[in-house]
Amino acid sequence: MPVPPIPRRVYIETYGCQMNVADSEVVGGILYREGFGFTDDISKADIILVNTCAIRENAEQRIRGRLGYFRTFKRTNPDVIIGILGCMAERLRSRFIEQEKMVDLVVGPDEYRKLPLLVDAVAGGERGIAVRLSRVENYDDIVPLRTDGISAWVSVMRGCDKFCTFCVVPFTRGRERSRTLNSIVGEVIALVQQGYKEVTLLGQNVNSYRDGASEFADLLCAVAAVDPSLRVRFTTSHPKDMSERLIEAIATTPNVCKHIHLPVQSGSDRILSLMNRSYTVAEYCALVDRIRRAIPGVSLSTDIISGFPTESSADHAMTLGLMNEMQYDGAFTFKYSPRENTRAWEMGDDVPEELKGERVSEITGLQHTISLARNGVHVGSTVTVLIDGPSKKSPEAYTGRTDTNKNVVFPRAGGRPGDYVRVAVERTTSATLLGAEVERLSAGRPADERGPA
Ligand code: 5AD
Ligand code: SF4
Repeated sequence: MPVPPIPRRVYIETYGCQMNVADSEVVGGILYREGFGFTDDISKADIILVNTCAIRENAEQRIRGRLGYFRTFKRTNPDVIIGILGCMAERLRSRFIEQEKMVDLVVGPDEYRKLPLLVDAVAGGERGIAVRLSRVENYDDIVPLRTDGISAWVSVMRGCDKFCTFCVVPFTRGRERSRTLNSIVGEVIALVQQGYKEVTLLGQNVNSYRDGASEFADLLCAVAAVDPSLRVRFTTSHPKDMSERLIEAIATTPNVCKHIHLPVQSGSDRILSLMNRSYTVAEYCALVDRIRRAIPGVSLSTDIISGFPTESSADHAMTLGLMNEMQYDGAFTFKYSPRENTRAWEMGDDVPEELKGERVSEITGLQHTISLARNGVHVGSTVTVLIDGPSKKSPEAYTGRTDTNKNVVFPRAGGRPGDYVRVAVERTTSATLLGAEVERLSAGRPADERGPA
């Protein structure tokens, strides 16, 4: 029987967290190795892949909408292959193919190595599905196919063992497993040689990284030691795994950025316990206190869920109270979304949608005020910025970030993307520092000023 020609041009669209962005680069690496090509123009694609997120229902709804659009390409090119990757693929598995007939290919986060074979199978008329989770797969040997040349995502561990009761991640990404320290350091050395200026070490619980004798503090120091002018970031940290050694490592390693994303989720002990977060508000506050003492000027951001089952107005008020106390630099707030299989699914969803919305607006309103005040402190001072590229709003301006992960926008001057420059801050919004470049710095990442602790 003649073998059908293998379709070659791949278009990948990515939704969800940075982990998915990194995974799409791994997928790109796997397909590139097998001779596939890539396109940014969906109408020219032979294979359309969408890397999906299942964390909240609205993320899934958005992707369903996109799948409807992707199917229209089958009209002009019946051979086009549509594949769904990532967490939603893992969650819905064969439902996508059998019931909904929306896609040809369903591949979960631990099965990307099979993609080339599955594409062949689909091209040969079969349906391709691979959704087994693995205890060992970490794509250690895959060279991710990256596009941006300044900042790189480096996945260092996968999965999550925490089982927060609201979260689908332990079910869609499976158990925790870490890459080896040596392979991560090797990847970072190669990135530096390619000219990257910043790496962000990624994991669902990045600070529970462990590789035999090494823990996350060791990894952070080893990566930072590759090049003192490389900025090193990491996300997402779980409060429980924020060890004293790690705080010390962040404090004492100049090129480890002084920004910690430390999701709190709620300011009520009762809700935290129902969420299985494994800390109390007092313990969280004590941790933040230790962090702020050890790392002056550190910036902190958080995630908050509003409307978790049984959340009362008193619980919500405690969250607002905690935010006032913590003075976060930024906060991401989400309406609670029940996810099948999680323990919270059994708890119902008793906070009405409208009330969730009101609570989210109150939280974002308060954070807006806090962020504005925290950013305002920088007016009149000078900050060191790594230039990312042109600003989205104005091509005449550049955007970059401080060590503390603040966005800075300023008119183009001597500096170019990938350069460190000094910017005098003239005014701020809750999300951005605006100013003028006053100096272009030579290679080498100079110590940054941070805002007051
Ligand atoms: N509903 C709403 N928000 C959620 N998150 C995780 N699961 C849910 C859910 N079921 C939020 C948490 C987490 C962030 C990535 O997404 O705040 O930290
Ligand atoms: Fe989900 Fe909790 Fe794991 Fe984060 S730590 S991925 S919120 S289960």
